[in-house]
Amino acid sequence: MRCMRLDKLVAGTGISRQDAKKLIAGGRVTVDGKVQKDPGFSVTEANEVSVGGESITHKAHIHIMIHKPGGVLTATEDARGQKTVADFLPFAFFKRKIGPVGRLDKDVTGLVLMTTDGQLAHRLISPKWEVTKRYRAVVEGKLDEECVLAFKTGIEFKDFTAKPAGLEILSANEDESVCLVYVTEGKFHQVKRMLQAVGHPVKHLHREKIAMIELDESLAEGEWRELTDSEIHDLYVLTEMNEDG
Ligand code: URA
Repeated sequence: MRCMRLDKLVAGTGISRQDAKKLIAGGRVTVDGKVQKDPGFSVTEANEVSVGGESITHKAHIHIMIHKPGGVLTATEDARGQKTVADFLPFAFFKRKIGPVGRLDKDVTGLVLMTTDGQLAHRLISPKWEVTKRYRAVVEGKLDEECVLAFKTGIEFKDFTAKPAGLEILSANEDESVCLVYVTEGKFHQVKRMLQAVGHPVKHLHREKIAMIELDESLAEGEWRELTDSEIHDLYVLTEMNEDG
């Protein structure tokens, strides 16, 4: 059973550690029904923690964004003990079965959405819903208009033909170029394979945006926050789902 400081768990609801400490000192936080004023009190997933009378483990659904660092798996656990995005999140979320909305390769950085709403996750990654993902890539060599056209047309691979995608060149030099890539599907290594196919192997790939949700610039690698009510609302409208279940 994983242990965590009470102030860290409370801060995990999206407030600063300082504010969490104030709430705890002010007697607003209970553990298993009893007021707990020690911010360093150790809690496990077995404890029921409430702030101002509201359980922080029992919201209808939890939706978060995390800034995934490189070298970390987009998974909630790994049998071989490799670091996963779950290592950055409060364990209370896993009691609620939060999971990632699609995956980024281990070396890829950037936006990962995580939700306890499996149907929402499914629609956001299903090719049928054509949700656009925006990536920033640093590639080898000089990108040109032919690459843009190839992306627009749809690149053919042995195992699938990529749907038409957007390629916006931000800078292009003989040794290195920087671009934005817009795709609506998420085949294995898709963006890397598309850029490789037009002759420009990827040096670094970073996801900036999924649908209308942009990675919050204030989040350093490994940091996360809950989605705002308006971000959640937008995702439910986009996927034609009812927010209230
Ligand atoms: N495309 C890739 O090649 N890798 C990712 O992680 C995401 C998109």
